[in-house]
Amino acid sequence: MHPQYARRLHKTVRRLVPDSDVRFLLSESGSAKGAAMVTAVAYRLADQSRQIIQTLEELQLTTEQLLEVKKRMKIEIQNGLSKSTQEIATVKMLPTFVQSTPDGSENGDFLALDLGGTNFRVLLVKIRSGKRRTVEMNNKIYAIPMEVMQGTGEELFDHIVQCISDFLDYMGMKNTRSPLGFTFSFPCQQTSLDAGVLVTWTKGFKATSCEGEDVVGLLRDAIRRREEFDLDVVAIVNDTVGTMMTCAYEEPTCEVGLIAGTGSNACYMEEMKNIEMIEGDEGRMCVNMEWGAFGDNGCLDDMRTEYDRTVDDLSLNPGKQRYEKMCSGMYLGEIVRNILIDLTRKGFLFRGQISETLKTRGIFETKYLSQIESDRLALLQGQIHSATLGTGTAPVTTVS
Ligand code: GLC
Repeated sequence: MHPQYARRLHKTVRRLVPDSDVRFLLSESGSAKGAAMVTAVAYRLADQSRQIIQTLEELQLTTEQLLEVKKRMKIEIQNGLSKSTQEIATVKMLPTFVQSTPDGSENGDFLALDLGGTNFRVLLVKIRSGKRRTVEMNNKIYAIPMEVMQGTGEELFDHIVQCISDFLDYMGMKNTRSPLGFTFSFPCQQTSLDAGVLVTWTKGFKATSCEGEDVVGLLRDAIRRREEFDLDVVAIVNDTVGTMMTCAYEEPTCEVGLIAGTGSNACYMEEMKNIEMIEGDEGRMCVNMEWGAFGDNGCLDDMRTEYDRTVDDLSLNPGKQRYEKMCSGMYLGEIVRNILIDLTRKGFLFRGQISETLKTRGIFETKYLSQIESDRLALLQGQIHSATLGTGTAPVTTVS
C-alpha cells in the first residue's frame, strides 16, 4: 500500500465513522512475511507444549519407579521388624498389642477419643452382640486451636479433658465410670494395650513435654487434675488399627488398615515370630508400620521433586515423615501450589504473573484438589478458565 493511499483511506474512514479508532499499518511484502510469522508462532507454541509436557512428565512415576519404591519399602519394613536394625529403622513397625480382630461377641458401652486428624472427636459407642448385632454411635467434634496443638503438653491434655467433660455433660454421663479407648494417631512405642510412649509428634502437632512420655499417663494426669470425673483408660490405638478393627467387625477377613488422610500410614496383622522386638513366637499381632517416615534416611531422594523438598523444608518437622509429605492431605495442596508457582514462573500459566494470592502459603487446601478431581464439570471449567486466562496451552487440571 502506498503511504498516500493509507492516509486517504484513514481520512475517509474517520469521516464515515467519526468515533472509530481504526489505524492502518503499512506493511512491506506483508503477505510473504506473514507466512513466516505463522510458522514462527506455530514453532513457539510447539516448543512451549514440548516444555509443558516435559515438565509434567517429571511429575509422573513410571511403573518401574513404583516397583522400585516397593522394593525399597520392603527393605525398610525388614529393618523395622529385626532387632539388630530396629534402632536405625525409619519405618518403625511398632507392635500394638492388638492380637485379634473382633468376633461379634463384643458387648457394652464405650467412650472413644480421636486425636490426630483434622478434628478432635469424642464418641460414645454402644456395641450390642447377639443375633442382631448393632453398633450405635454418638459423637461431638471439637476444634483444637493451633496454639493448643503447639503449646505445652499440659495445655493440650487439659483441653482434651475439658472436651470430654463437655461431652459427658451433653450425654448426661458425668457420674458413670466408662471404659475408654484413645485413638491417638501418632507413633507410639507400646509396652501394653494401655501404655504408649510418644516417639515423635507428626503432622501439625508440636506440644512440648510429650515426646518420650506415656500418653495414657498424660491423659490420666489431666483427668486427675480436673477432679471432676473418672475414666478407665483401657487402650491406646493408632487410627490405622482402629480402622482395621472397625472394618474387621463387618468383614472378618480384613487384616490391613490404611489411612489416606491428613497423614498416611498402614497397619496389618503380622506373625509374632517375625516381630523380633516382642517375646514369643505364637500367634499374631497388629503392627503399626508408621510408613509416613519412609524415606527419612534419604532412600527416596532420587524420586522427590523440588516441590516435595520445598514443602518439607518449610514444614514443622523438616526431614521427617518424607513419604507422608509426598502424598498426604496435610501437604498435597501445598505441593500443588508450588507446582503452580513454578509453571507460572516458566510462563505456562496465568500469563506468567504470580499473584499475591498464589504466593500465600497454605492457601490452596487439599480439599480443593479433591473437589477438582471428583467433579467432571469442575475439570471442564478448569480447562475453560485456563484458556480464558490466555494460557490456552496448559489446562490447570493436567497438573493435579
Ligand atoms: C501420621 C502418624 C501416624 C498416623 C498417620 C495417619 O503418619 O504418625 O501414626 O497413623 O499420620 O493419621
